[in-house]
Amino acid sequence: MTQDGIDQTFVLIKPDALSLSLTGYVLSQLSEFHAGLRFAGAKIVHVTRMLAEEHYAEHKGKPFFPAVVEYLMGCVHYPDSPDKRRVIALAYSGPGAVTTVRKIAGPTSPHVARDTAPGTIRALGTIVPLKDAAGNPAGERMDNLVHASSSPSDAQREINLWFIPSDIMPAMRQYATEVCDDYYYLKDGNLSMTREPGSICILAPGQMAWKSDVEAMQKILQGEPAHCTLDAVVAKYLINEKLETS
Ligand code: CDP
Ligand code: MG
Repeated sequence: MTQDGIDQTFVLIKPDALSLSLTGYVLSQLSEFHAGLRFAGAKIVHVTRMLAEEHYAEHKGKPFFPAVVEYLMGCVHYPDSPDKRRVIALAYSGPGAVTTVRKIAGPTSPHVARDTAPGTIRALGTIVPLKDAAGNPAGERMDNLVHASSSPSDAQREINLWFIPSDIMPAMRQYATEVCDDYYYLKDGNLSMTREPGSICILAPGQMAWKSDVEAMQKILQGEPAHCTLDAVVAKYLINEKLETS
C-alpha cells in the first residue's frame, strides 16, 4: 500500500477467458460499480516466452511451470493460431485493490472455487490433467481464466514487468519514475550503451522509465547484482514487437 492508502493491483485476462469469450464478463465483475476500483492501465499483449517466464518466475522449477508458461503464452488455447494468442493486462487502483480483486477472482483451483467460492471468476475455470512424453500422468494445469496479484509487492513487480510508465494514467502512477539520460541497447540477450548492428534500443534519453529499471540496468552494466533480472526489465519493451510461434 502506498502513503495515500491506495493500493494498485495487476490483473491478466488469460487466454482461456479470451477463447471462451468471457472478457466482458470478467471486466464487468471488476468494474468500478462491482469492485469499487478504477482502471489505471490496460493493454492487449501477445505474450513472449520471456515475459511469461518472468511473470511466473516464482514458480520456476515446479512441475507445472512449463505448462503454465505455455498456457499464458496462448499456445494451449490457440495451438494453430499464433496470431490469436493474447492476454489483456490491466492495472487497477483503489483502497484494498489486491484483496478485493483476489476475492472476486477466487481460489487458484477452479474445483476449490466451485466448492468454496461459487460466483467467483475462477469457479468458471477448468483443470486439465497433464501427461509426460511417455504418456504417464504428470500433474495438472489449472486454467483459471484470470491472474490477480497476491500482494502489494507482487502488484508492483507485475505492473513494472508488464507496463511502461506511459501505459498508466499519470494521476495513477504510483511507482517512482525518472527521465532516462542514456541509451540502453539489447543484443543477443546482452545490455549495452552503444549501438551495434542488429541491436534493439530499449530506452533513449528523454524517455520516461521506472526508476527501479534504470537502477537495475546500471547495476547490470557494472556487473553488480541487481534487484531483478535483465529480462524483467526488457520484456515489456519487446511486447507486441513480433509474432512468437513457439
Ligand atoms: O494465480 P495464483 O496466485 O492464485 O496461483 P499460483 O500458485 O501463483 O500459480 C500461478 C498459476 O499457475 C495459477 O493461477 C494456475 O493457473 C497455475 N497453477 C497450476 O496450473 N497448477 C498448480 N498446481 C498451481 C498453479
Ligand atoms: Mg500467484
